[in-house]
Amino acid sequence: MPSWVTSASSRSWMKSLRHLVVLSSLCCFISGYSDKDRVRELMSKYPLIDGHNDLALQLRKLHNNRLSKMDLHNVSKLATDINRLQAGQVQTQMFAVYVMCGAQEKDAVRLALEQIDVVRRMCTEYQEFELVTSTQELKNYESSRKIACLISLEGGHAIDSSLPALRMFYQLGVRSMALTHTCNTPWAESSSKLYNIYQRQNDSLTNFGKAVVEEMNRLGMIVDLSHTSWETAWAALKHSKAPVIFSHSSSFSICNHERNVPDWLLQELKKKQGLIMVNLHSKFISCREEANVSHVADHFDHIKRLIGAESIGIGGDYEGAVSFPRGLEDVSKYPALILELLRRNWTDNELADVLRRNFLRVFEGVEMVRDQLNRTRPSEIQISLEEVQNQCRLVLRPPDKRGQVDRSGTSRPRQETKLLLILSIVLLLSSLLMFE
Ligand SMILES: *[C@@H]1O[C@H](CO)[C@@H](O)[C@H](O)[C@H]1NC(C)=O
Ligand SMILES: *[C@@H]1O[C@H](CO)[C@@H](O)[C@H](O)[C@H]1NC(C)=O
Ligand SMILES: *[C@@H]1O[C@H](CO)[C@@H](O)[C@H](O)[C@H]1NC(C)=O
Ligand SMILES: *[C@@H]1O[C@H](CO)[C@@H](O)[C@H](O)[C@H]1NC(C)=O
Ligand SMILES: *[C@@H]1O[C@H](CO)[C@@H](O)[C@H](O)[C@H]1NC(C)=O
Ligand SMILES: [Zn+2]
Repeated sequence: MPSWVTSASSRSWMKSLRHLVVLSSLCCFISGYSDKDRVRELMSKYPLIDGHNDLALQLRKLHNNRLSKMDLHNVSKLATDINRLQAGQVQTQMFAVYVMCGAQEKDAVRLALEQIDVVRRMCTEYQEFELVTSTQELKNYESSRKIACLISLEGGHAIDSSLPALRMFYQLGVRSMALTHTCNTPWAESSSKLYNIYQRQNDSLTNFGKAVVEEMNRLGMIVDLSHTSWETAWAALKHSKAPVIFSHSSSFSICNHERNVPDWLLQELKKKQGLIMVNLHSKFISCREEANVSHVADHFDHIKRLIGAESIGIGGDYEGAVSFPRGLEDVSKYPALILELLRRNWTDNELADVLRRNFLRVFEGVEMVRDQLNRTRPSEIQISLEEVQNQCRLVLRPPDKRGQVDRSGTSRPRQETKLLLILSIVLLLSSLLMFE
């Protein structure tokens, strides 16, 4: 073949390629449609439901819950504020009502009530927020531009081993509870060994722990297994009639941290149609202080390969942790994560599941079990006093007739009142006598 033939044909091929390039860039210029636009469009159709945010903890730390001391539209020293939630296309946020483990056996119940109060205030005083308690309300807000607030209780020690207290938390709007935080409770075990309290031979759920799970099923409260030990998580998962979640945990096989979930447990989670909402904290992502979006996407890819995109959600853990991956520094950055997954060939359908449909399905499952159990009476199961070591628990019994100071300390004030009464009668009588 003469050489000029090849060069001529290659020249014309080059020419048509150049046309193609010009044409396609013209197309892009006209439509302006990039991957980023695709993400924005997807996220406006399926705005994010995020499983975990500790803003309420920061309100406590910064201002002891004095909401009036700050403007939540723009809080430069935090990773969460209204402007950035909106920029990140977060439509629903589960706000954690976190109670420090040091409060167990002390004022955990009061602290939990105060955190609920501040979330409720925040979500009613700012018109951009709306407090919600059901999937129906979540769906109603799909069309509004408000950010729906769900309340989750982080740490079972906040109920002080009391099912009536659990029921009252439900009444206040709590729709999810993590069975433990970093401390064991008298009935469940934590993944952390930070606190040397309530150590048991058997690390799973106690009988009372099972009663807690049953009562949460009956109420329609989501059982959250983030922070529990794997054995407790497994026992709770088996015992629960409703699907369960890990609201902010990642994959143990990608990063060997005790807060993450091992593959065998993920398999069990799938069997129960549960959900793992991937935590973005660098330490749980790369097991180091630094990470980036690729590291996060590796967790998503791994979990999808193992149990499918229908088992995955997002639980950012902003304000609950200090270091976040490069490119995901605050709540406005969620689209960067979706972009990375899109580039890794996740389909629109899978991403819609991850963004919100999986959580809605799980929450609906929890509500369905609640409805099925509507003939079940509230549980009257009580924990035995031997199982709790709480010195603050008052043993209710009538005051000792012999006037001895009893363990509950009720006699002494009673005696003082009696003395005061006698004294005032004497004073009254003497003053009456003086006037005569
Ligand atoms: C938020 O506040 C910081 C300083 O407090 C300011 O620099 C920034 O422009 C503000 N951003 C918005 C969106 O208001
Ligand atoms: C621990 O408790 C669980 C649930 O009650 C039970 O299945 C398991 O056999 C117990 N393990 C031990 C070592 O007693
Ligand atoms: C993330 O960091 C790893 C190295 O740890 C690097 O190979 C990768 O390219 C980074 N990805 C991005 C998106 O920066
Ligand atoms: C995505 O799919 C395309 C086309 O099937 C393929 O060429 C590419 O390698 C895939 N990318 C990844 C990250 O899997
Ligand atoms: C329980 O639910 C069923 C079906 O939704 C309903 O017909 C029934 O009235 C409910 N019972 C009670 C006690 O609420
Ligand atoms: Zn946490």
